[in-house]
Amino acid sequence: MIRFEHVTKSYADGTTAVDDLSFEVAEGELVTLVGPSGCGKTTTMKMVNRLIEPTSGRILVNGEDISTVDPVELRRRIGYVIQQVGLFPHKTVLDNTATVPHLLGWQRKRARARAAELLDLVGLDPSVYGDRYPDQLSGGQRQRVGVARALAADPPVLLMDEPFGAVDPVVRERLQSEFLRLQSQVRKTVLFVTHDIEEAVRLGDRIAVYGNGRIEQFDAPAAVLGAPATPYVADFVGADRGLKRLSVTPIEADDLEQPPVVHLDDRLSEAAGLLARKDARWAVVLDDSDRLHGWISAEAAASGEGLVRERARRMDAWLPLGASLKRAFSTMLQHDAGWIAVLDGERADHFLGVLTPARLHEALRRSIEADARGGSRSEVELETVPGV
Ligand SMILES: Nc1ncnc2c1ncn2[C@@H]1O[C@H](COP(=O)(O)OP(=O)(O)OP(=O)(O)O)[C@@H](O)[C@H]1O
Ligand SMILES: [Mg+2]
Repeated sequence: MIRFEHVTKSYADGTTAVDDLSFEVAEGELVTLVGPSGCGKTTTMKMVNRLIEPTSGRILVNGEDISTVDPVELRRRIGYVIQQVGLFPHKTVLDNTATVPHLLGWQRKRARARAAELLDLVGLDPSVYGDRYPDQLSGGQRQRVGVARALAADPPVLLMDEPFGAVDPVVRERLQSEFLRLQSQVRKTVLFVTHDIEEAVRLGDRIAVYGNGRIEQFDAPAAVLGAPATPYVADFVGADRGLKRLSVTPIEADDLEQPPVVHLDDRLSEAAGLLARKDARWAVVLDDSDRLHGWISAEAAASGEGLVRERARRMDAWLPLGASLKRAFSTMLQHDAGWIAVLDGERADHFLGVLTPARLHEALRRSIEADARGGSRSEVELETVPGV
């Protein structure tokens, strides 16, 4: 969808902002450009909507060499969000959002209806915020209006230059989640610039790590974290990349442990027998539909007559298969739990197994190894330091 072919941008003073850049962004893909200040990220971005002209090379958007397209025409097909948002201070939120539809000559009513729809989509109630002016909004709300405005004419391509740079970390994380949800609905082709490797990893289908005017590595987040292509990239992603990697590594079925399982209507004596045979200290308790109820300890099971439901404890630390290891870790901490249940979200939350801290660590190590060697996680044999 966006294709750079040997693009260079040099300035008269001898600065080469971008040096022989070639890469491609597929339709519906979100690529993050990450790198230190001055490495050429904004220059790359502005060449796509012709705010800057390359010195050499070509850029194609949807197969078309953009040097042959009228810049004004081109920009109508490309949404642009910048750090300072750039809302018109004298226009209401609704009119700001309707800017491009107005320019495109839409009828006022249709433009405003579209703007209201977009505000809703970015989580701003148009009946509350539509008539406000930008200085009557918080920083995060202004950013959302910026995103809504960029989407208003439904452009296939979106350029976002540090769109969440100006807000505090908490709001920023929320905007990131909202944006991911939005992107899963609208599926734009997005170039997203950031300084922040965490943001790049969280949002990007792929990441371009910039060095001085060049791309040092262009790959999926897990690959950039797991197998940095150069010492520069390793340094940039940081020594705690194992930790960052947690957020891009999903829980897989192979990672799960299978403790004994009993049902609410089983007799306690049966449960106690099962636990004794398996030499286990506890069992997972499921309801009739194999959904998680909680757990029961070996002592509770051995304590008398009756049904499991009378002695089972509730437990609601669970995640769907495919959730990130980071969410798993944070769920364990939040519930102060030694394990969390993993359920099949596709099959009515059917219980699949449990993830323990040891298994989580193993999953992480496997995914790092698998990326370093190529191949899948389940093929990796780990050498393990024996536990105490
Ligand atoms: N008009 C200009 N003349 C000379 N050099 C320029 C000009 N505009 C930009 N540069 C240089 O080009 C390089 C790349 O700038 P660019 O704005 O693309 O960086 P960036 O990666 O977006 O940085 P930041 O993260 O700080 O926004 C910088 O060294 C900058 O000083
Ligand atoms: Mg910049």
